[in-house]
Amino acid sequence: MESQFRQQEPSTIQRLFGRIAHRYDLANSLLSLGCDSLWRANVAARVKSWDPSAILDLATGSGVLASELKRRIPAARVVGADFCAPMLTFARRRGIRELVVADGLALPFRDDRFDVVTIAFGLRNMASYDVALQEVKRVLRAGGRLLILDFSLPNPPLRTLYRIYLHRVLPVLAGWVTGEPDAYHYLGGTIEGFPKGEAMLKLMSRCGFGDGEARPLTMGVVTVYTGRKKRFGGSA
Ligand SMILES: C[S@@+](CC[C@H](N)C(=O)[O-])C[C@H]1O[C@@H](n2cnc3c(N)ncnc32)[C@H](O)[C@@H]1O
Repeated sequence: MESQFRQQEPSTIQRLFGRIAHRYDLANSLLSLGCDSLWRANVAARVKSWDPSAILDLATGSGVLASELKRRIPAARVVGADFCAPMLTFARRRGIRELVVADGLALPFRDDRFDVVTIAFGLRNMASYDVALQEVKRVLRAGGRLLILDFSLPNPPLRTLYRIYLHRVLPVLAGWVTGEPDAYHYLGGTIEGFPKGEAMLKLMSRCGFGDGEARPLTMGVVTVYTGRKKRFGGSA
C-alpha cells in the first residue's frame, strides 16, 4: 500500500513534530507498551560493539537514542541533529550537549566526519530516502556504519491484528495522549509506504552501503538495518 502521506511537505512534518514534542516520549512508551526502550537499548548495544569515536544520531528528536548511546559509550562524541527545534529542546534537557538544527537532506557536516550514523524512526519522515542516505554516506568515513531502526510489519497472521491496532486503535489512544490524532494517522500511512526487509537493503545498496543486514525485533514490528559505507563505490 503506497502511503497517501508520503508526499508531505518537510515544513508540515516539522510543524507536526513541533506540536507533539511535549508528549512525544510519553506517547512512545505507552503506545509501544515500553518496547521502544528495549529497541533503543538493542541498537545502542550494537553500536557499542563497533567501538566508534564519533556518532551522529540523525533525526534525534527528543534525544532518547542519543542519550542511550552516550550512556553506553561515554568515550564517544555523540552529535544529535534534527530539523525540528522544539524536539531538540527535550534532547537538551536530557543532557545531550552537541545538538544541531539540521535537515537530513543537507547536513552541515564535513565529509568523512563520523564513524557511525544512527537514524531511529526518522528516515521514514524524510522527503527523499535516497538523498538522505547519500548525505549520510558523505558524512561517514569509508567503512563507517549506518544503522536504521524503523517500523516494519509483522508476518501474517499477526499482521492483520497489528494493522487494526496501527490504523484504528493507535490514532485514538495517541489522540488522547498528544491531542494530535492526525499525527498518528500519518504514522500508520508512512509505515505502510516505507521500504521493508529486502527493499530497504536494496535502497541502502543503491545509496552506497554494502554488507547490508536486516534484523527484525518484536516479531517484525520494527527492524534494525545495518550497512557499511562502500569504499570508492566498491565493497564495504
Ligand atoms: C519519530 S521522531 C524520531 C525521534 C528519535 N530518533 C526517536 O527515536 O525517538 C522523527 C524525527 O525525525 C525528524 N525529521 C524528520 N524529517 C527530518 C529531516 N528531513 N531532517 C532532520 N530531521 C527530520 C523529526 O523532526 C522528528 O524529530
